Amino acid sequence: VVFENSFTASKAVAKEIADLIRKKQTQEQPCILGLATGSSPKGLYAELVRMHKEDGLSFKNVITFNLDEYYPMQPDSVNSYVRFMKELLLDQVDILSGNYHIPDGTLSKEAIADYCRDYEAKIEALGGLDLQVLGIGGNGHIGFNESGSLQNSKTRLVALDHITRVAASGDFSGLINTPRTAITLGVKKIMEAKRVILMAWGEGKSSIIKASTEGPVTNQVPASFLQEHNNVVFVIDKAAASKL
Ligand code: GLP
Repeated sequence: VVFENSFTASKAVAKEIADLIRKKQTQEQPCILGLATGSSPKGLYAELVRMHKEDGLSFKNVITFNLDEYYPMQPDSVNSYVRFMKELLLDQVDILSGNYHIPDGTLSKEAIADYCRDYEAKIEALGGLDLQVLGIGGNGHIGFNESGSLQNSKTRLVALDHITRVAASGDFSGLINTPRTAITLGVKKIMEAKRVILMAWGEGKSSIIKASTEGPVTNQVPASFLQEHNNVVFVIDKAAASKL
């Protein structure tokens, strides 16, 4: 779906998510959301916060699982995804503490495999993700599933691509300070989400949007796996759609 701009697009995505949260409330069920970081979902989170403050949208039945976190990463560091999520959404709405999950960047290396298994088990115990929000990296990564990630890949520690580190290096004041690894939800759990919404804005994303939607399904472009998902939408602005 192509919108005039990211503002109207983000509002439409927020409306869909708010409708889902409210539907689950009337059914007295939790709403299990997979959330993303990066610049693309910022407008979505701003609109959800506005809906909470002005329209009475409650997050008391919402349980969230974030896609990824740099490793190693302290939660209170300026670049941590924990901090990002708290500032932009979690601390601004009435989600219950304990109901949000963000991969832990402080684990010892030996503890990561068990932690990742447990992260997936928690999602499974809740019946899977009702909806997964995604951005897309310039190389087609989803979460931090970089080129080469398999369609059945699990939640795991990954090495970041050079291009991903370069894109992030501005936040870390230089490549030398940019993490080399991250923990990411695997492609398999993303593909198992009942609904997937991928958001992308701007001319800079136009080539990868074309490759992901019109190119072959290939692990060189992990977002192309979504062509095989039966309930996915790419919500993009005109600039990101310009090569389609
Ligand atoms: C990071 C995140 C991804 C995100 C991507 C794109 O790599 N781990 O989940 O989709 O950046 O970021 P942006 O939305 O800022 O373009």
